[in-house]
Amino acid sequence: MAVRYNEERKIFRLDTDKSTYLMGLTPEGYLGHIYYGDRLFKRVDNYMLRMEEAPFTPSVNKREKSAFLDSFPMEYPTGGIGDFRESCLNVRNEAGQMGCEIHYVTHEIYKGKKPLKGLPASFGTDDEVETLDITCEDPVLGLQVILSYSVFEKENVITRSVRLHNTGSQHLKIEKVYSACLDMDNEDFEMLTLQGAWARERHIQQGKIRYGKQMVSSVRGESSHQQQPFFALITPGTSQQQGKVYGMHFVYSGNFIGQAELSQFDSVRAVMGINQEEFCWNLKEDQEFQAPEVVMVYSSEGLGQMTRSYHDFYRNHMIRSKYNHKKRPILINNWEATYFDFDTEKLLDIAREAKACGIEMLVMDDGWFGVRNNDDCSLGDWKVNTDKITGGLKHLVDEVNKIGLDFGIWFEPEMVSPDSELYRNHPEWAIQIQGREAAQSRQQYVLDLSRRDVLDYVYESVASILRSANIVYVKWDMNRCLCDLGSAYLEKEQQQELFHRYVLGVYELQERLVTEFPDLLLENCSSGGARFDPGMLYYSPQIWCSDDTDAIERLSIQEGTALVYPLSTMGAHVSDCPNHSVGRVTPFETRGHVALTGTFGYELDITKIPQEDRKMIPDQTRMYHKYHELIREGDYYRIASYSENHLYDCWAAASKDKKEVLVTYVQVLGRPNVHSRRLFLQGFDPEGVYLLEGTQEKYTGEMLMKCGFLIRDFTGDFKSRLYHFMKAE
Ligand code: GLA
Repeated sequence: MAVRYNEERKIFRLDTDKSTYLMGLTPEGYLGHIYYGDRLFKRVDNYMLRMEEAPFTPSVNKREKSAFLDSFPMEYPTGGIGDFRESCLNVRNEAGQMGCEIHYVTHEIYKGKKPLKGLPASFGTDDEVETLDITCEDPVLGLQVILSYSVFEKENVITRSVRLHNTGSQHLKIEKVYSACLDMDNEDFEMLTLQGAWARERHIQQGKIRYGKQMVSSVRGESSHQQQPFFALITPGTSQQQGKVYGMHFVYSGNFIGQAELSQFDSVRAVMGINQEEFCWNLKEDQEFQAPEVVMVYSSEGLGQMTRSYHDFYRNHMIRSKYNHKKRPILINNWEATYFDFDTEKLLDIAREAKACGIEMLVMDDGWFGVRNNDDCSLGDWKVNTDKITGGLKHLVDEVNKIGLDFGIWFEPEMVSPDSELYRNHPEWAIQIQGREAAQSRQQYVLDLSRRDVLDYVYESVASILRSANIVYVKWDMNRCLCDLGSAYLEKEQQQELFHRYVLGVYELQERLVTEFPDLLLENCSSGGARFDPGMLYYSPQIWCSDDTDAIERLSIQEGTALVYPLSTMGAHVSDCPNHSVGRVTPFETRGHVALTGTFGYELDITKIPQEDRKMIPDQTRMYHKYHELIREGDYYRIASYSENHLYDCWAAASKDKKEVLVTYVQVLGRPNVHSRRLFLQGFDPEGVYLLEGTQEKYTGEMLMKCGFLIRDFTGDFKSRLYHFMKAE
């Protein structure tokens, strides 16, 4: 049993294979956090709640409320009542006053997990997951707060979410509702986060937490290039294989906060949820609000174990697409090949050459609709431009199919160009503040997805195109952040709901899409990787990682992304050189090896690239056919990090049965006069004997992991090599 309640001690106990999570009730009914860490097997107690410690002034009343609340390890702290650390729930009553205090009422334990209304969330069968719903209540407000904990034993994951139910008769204003809190004693924690910018997303950053608050967040209306809705608290010296790691990852695609607060008593309060900035939800009588889910992983075996837990969890319990465990087609995308300058003939030329090289799908990117020959117009006018796509879309798709390739298409459905028929007809459909000129970004506005008429228009625009031809793949893009928040549709009191309603609109659109087109391969995208989050994974099994396709920059981007996301989700393409983002020239082979670690495809004009590069494509596609399963389904091990050593990078994908391990090594900069480089490999069976493909060399798994493997005969910059080990029978 993964979830248990000890009635006598009033302790809730959640067990995964390798971790235990404990909560306890005080006599008044406060729910406190006792423990999260290594799996416990024996009896548990609640003394870590420190209920009898004196407040800061010696007092007979050890439970003087404010002193007690300001130090108690609260499971779900509420604001306005004397706990002065970060609260998770701020509620304003009808009289305009903010305060909320919740006590335990009842709980329910059941097998399986319920969906979260309107939101993406993890799922599992009755055998895979067990759920605990704890109902707490503020009788003064008439508010029920239902804290849900779902325990996935095998993956060592506990997910959390919160549901509010207004059972009283007041109109409540929810000014903040986070999804999870972890109140723990500090263990000299450091905070590890994923930072970035356009074209350099998700670089790993780490630093000691200090007194006060440190956070990652977004107020951009999307999860963002700049910060990922993830952080981990790690003990000093944590490496891939050692150290305690607490990971929190938010299943949400809009504004978020993830924060660690080191308090006066050296406790750390880690919280995660929807960002409270420009958020206020009206909760009227009998209404409910569902807050999104947080995925928590604890690992006592370093970052590597956390990574593999997240990978398994997302592959098994978050990605719904039938492509999750299926081979993805090798695609060629025309964006970096042609930008807006293409027509039917050009695309067919690319398709023919691509087919000859073993590529399996052509994706037509931006520029096929309206009069879009540049990025300054036509978003919203989803009618094919027959001046470019002569003969129409169906003709093009049929011709591409005749060549033997599948066909995919690009959309940016959430947007509208000021220069578009749609905007001319419906200026009120754009998010804007009346009387203020809204900021354009990439010469576009954002559509007000809180409106039913807009949602229906957007959905039909995409769906009617998909119904009109044999289109099997969609790249769903989103190329600007939200600002000038104003809806011509929402009531005055609802304006602060717009950020969240927008995200709910995106989810509804994608839900409709994958329901009507269950065979569609959907790839989400946002100016590269600005909306790479677990929420989007629920709808699309892959997400475009970054507009930066340079193999060397991609080392850091893909390392950071793979810290929490399976390799099978990372959109990665081989592009032309000099690279369009950084101007760097790298060998075609290296570009192939780096892209192989993701979904693998091409983004170049195959009719124009150097002959010697083109000649390598058939071999590269064969390489993909050989390794796709290992990379998609295997365990990922980070062996060396170029972002740390500034010289070389190395990672491995190992099959679950450890019969096969593929090691990728990239030498970023060569060094003169050095010994061969020793790398401590991972992912092998220590008892096994492995043959290195292409050689007669045999190695024991134990030697490779403990003594190391030598990278020999390797000179040059930006070079890479694959080492494929097979267990000898
Ligand atoms: C975004 C995407 C690119 C490409 C362009 C098209 O930047 O990330 O891959 O689709 O839009 O405008």
